[in-house]
Amino acid sequence: MQNAYKSMPALIAHRGAGAFAPENTAAAISLAVELGATWCEVDVTISADAVAVLHHDVDLERCSNGHGLVVKHSLAQLKMLDMGSWFDPKYHQQRILTLPELLQQANELKLGLNLEIKPTIGLETETVAAVAKALEDTPANHPILLSSFNIHALREAKIQLPNLTRALNVEAIPHNWHERVSEVDAHGLHFQLQFFDAALVKQILQAGIYCASYTVNDKTDADRLYKAGVNAIFSDYPNLLTL
Ligand code: G3P
Ligand code: MG
Repeated sequence: MQNAYKSMPALIAHRGAGAFAPENTAAAISLAVELGATWCEVDVTISADAVAVLHHDVDLERCSNGHGLVVKHSLAQLKMLDMGSWFDPKYHQQRILTLPELLQQANELKLGLNLEIKPTIGLETETVAAVAKALEDTPANHPILLSSFNIHALREAKIQLPNLTRALNVEAIPHNWHERVSEVDAHGLHFQLQFFDAALVKQILQAGIYCASYTVNDKTDADRLYKAGVNAIFSDYPNLLTL
């Protein structure tokens, strides 16, 4: 296995350039690269017909003109939705991005990807299978890191995509972090900025586990994290470090 963390930059664009364009869309990915990103994080779930698509929430209300659960809509139905006007009317042509489409775009841009798996509860196997199918159909020419808050998804990832680097996402870093990381055999731990704990980060790094923090939109926070040895931050501002 090639450890994806070895080629990970200090900053990963969160949901594409989430601060400047509608999150998880092709426009947000392109803009992130224009602003200097070499890696993007995106959220991956599945449609009713089991195609891997990019979407953060379980429902469509916040980030589209649709209604109801993403998983209850076929890809054809999802593709009819406007995924951009909620952010700015100029993005009205943005359509839901499938994972195969993202992989194609990332191959053209030579972009590293952190695919955060956000499965519907109970559909972890199907969601990871859809990710595996997309990667089989469109092999990536760039590093891929899989992450999830969902331990069933990470266990499935180990079975279905054993050669990909895995990370466990958490909010606060648990005191039993070693147990939690071991139970999914993860290579990294991603924690929420608000729960940063320098002493725990030190222990984790000493154990050879990579650490990253989300969502860091302030340079002072970024400096604090880097000083503690945190390997990478997720930011809605791909250009945060040059501002
Ligand atoms: O993957 C890091 C971060 O994106 C996790 O939280 O809610 O922004 O997907 P969320
Ligand atoms: Mg995410």
